[in-house]
Amino acid sequence: MSDLAPYIEQIRSRLKVSEIIGKDVRLTRKGNEFSGLCPFHQEKTPSFTLNDVKGFYHCFGCGEHGDIFKYVMQRSGVEFMDALQHLAQLAGVILPEKKAISSDGKVYYDILKAACEWFEENLKRSPGEGAREYLERRGFTQKTVEEFRLGFAPDKHQNQSSLYKVLLEKGFEREKILSSGLIIQPEDDREPYDRFRGRVTFPIQDLKGNVIAFGGRVLGNGQPKYLNSSDTSIFHKGRILYNFAQAQRHVTPDQSLIVVEGYFDVIALHQGGFKTAVAPLGTAVTEEQLELLWRRSQQPLFCFDGDLAGLRASFRSAKKALPLLTSEKTLRFCYLPKGEDPDSYIKAHGKEALAAILNSSSSLSESLWNSLMMDHQPSPESTPEAKAAFKKNVLASVSEISNADVRHFYFEDFNERLRKLWYKNKTASFVGAPSKKPTTMPTQGRVLKKNIHSQKILLATLLNHPTLLDDVAEQLALVEFDKESWEQLKQHILQSVDSSHSSLKEELHLKGFGSILEEILDKKIYSQYPFAQEGADTKVALERWQEIWHREVWQESIKKDIKNSSDSMKASFDEQEWQKMKALKSSLTHSS
Ligand code: UTP
Ligand code: MN
Repeated sequence: MSDLAPYIEQIRSRLKVSEIIGKDVRLTRKGNEFSGLCPFHQEKTPSFTLNDVKGFYHCFGCGEHGDIFKYVMQRSGVEFMDALQHLAQLAGVILPEKKAISSDGKVYYDILKAACEWFEENLKRSPGEGAREYLERRGFTQKTVEEFRLGFAPDKHQNQSSLYKVLLEKGFEREKILSSGLIIQPEDDREPYDRFRGRVTFPIQDLKGNVIAFGGRVLGNGQPKYLNSSDTSIFHKGRILYNFAQAQRHVTPDQSLIVVEGYFDVIALHQGGFKTAVAPLGTAVTEEQLELLWRRSQQPLFCFDGDLAGLRASFRSAKKALPLLTSEKTLRFCYLPKGEDPDSYIKAHGKEALAAILNSSSSLSESLWNSLMMDHQPSPESTPEAKAAFKKNVLASVSEISNADVRHFYFEDFNERLRKLWYKNKTASFVGAPSKKPTTMPTQGRVLKKNIHSQKILLATLLNHPTLLDDVAEQLALVEFDKESWEQLKQHILQSVDSSHSSLKEELHLKGFGSILEEILDKKIYSQYPFAQEGADTKVALERWQEIWHREVWQESIKKDIKNSSDSMKASFDEQEWQKMKALKSSLTHSS
């Protein structure tokens, strides 16, 4: 512990007691001394004093006494090391890795290293045959498997010596093995057994590349699909990100960290050339993980499944980030088609398609706005009270931002969005399309999109494959074509949804769309987009159509304000109003 002394001194010199305690206690200053109501016992007159020069606090009422470290430990009920970590972060002091500071830490690194090597060995040998096949089936190359040091933990019935035995044979102390997070010790007096059995193993490394834990996936469909090591003295799952040590080395000004949900997503991205991918370990991202990301990227990019759950998860991350935002710390978000994750997407559609999605990311402010829109569904028909309630919610979210400048500009930005929201014209609802609305689509309004080329492919494909309309009418309805004539064509196509498809083109000819059809059914597009052609495989056509729609329309729709309509409520709020609210809030907390 003594090698921590210089760090402790440095932290002490950078942080004032009054600064730390002032966060909890309202202090009155008298020279170098401060006084206030003691946080450790109930009192009506202040007998709690502290001195910045001496670096101590003392309560004349209850006798509590100590420095900033003791204070944090007492106040938050944490161990010294945790208080140290916390204060080091506040002070901007970088502590040496735990390895160097904890006397018995080293043995855990050795145990984890031995386990990692043993798992890797197993994968190469006969018990790992099934796992090798599994990884191969999922498209992972030998090189990737080695880079990520994937391994295999055999099951009991494979008649293998267990990891527990192997570690004992290597001479590690039983007690240390049992607290390495890898072994389960039954409550009764049965023998300890391995946590990971019959699973592919993913070593999880700390910032320096030491293995500190594992994830494990069943081969096939068992439950639970994934397991992690339990938390140990060297592994805290909320503080680390899978693959961070490697990914951070590939960060460039143009390539930020990419945050995905799963181990295999990270690995598939890496194999596809996106080497900056990281993942939390089966939980929502924590504040500590956000801070870790920001050490290397000003705008880490979160990649979510485009279904409702993914959308909600992205909003949760956005909200968590609000108090921590600065001009140099924000997040971006992108969304994959419903039901896809980066691993499945890159395998089905390739690197370019994925790159397009990563490039179509939206900012945190857009995402937050969409989240508010989704939660509250404000509409032009809302009552004035409902509009006021929506504004209040917007205000409350923005108030979460602690950084004054960032907050100020969010106020301005959201103020503008509110103004536009009430002023926008309501878009006419379309005729003829099915009434059921898929939950993953933006519920309000249509979507503007500038890409004429994609618009042409979307229409041409449907004209040549009218049966697809049964599947995509709702999606088509949400496309707003730039050309008025195409927009009219769309309306007519939608009206034909319930009639027979065989004669769609003829029908449209009869209705006078002949020249427009000619313009759209442009032979040049078929060489590049063969699926659009008449007679092409309809399954492929459907897939590609939805892919383009997703990329060009849906992605964009998340980014654009969901268009609503006309009313003339002027929404204005600003810093002053925020101050007012803050004052209100604090008067509430102080009176309770
Ligand atoms: P997913 O269920 O999305 O799995 O969980 P995945 O990553 O797509 O895995 P594959 O492709 O089916 O193999 C995402 C992440 O959530 C955690 C894991 O970290 C996983 O990578 N998770 C999932 C668990 O911790 N436990 C579970 O039972 C499932
Ligand atoms: Mn997956």
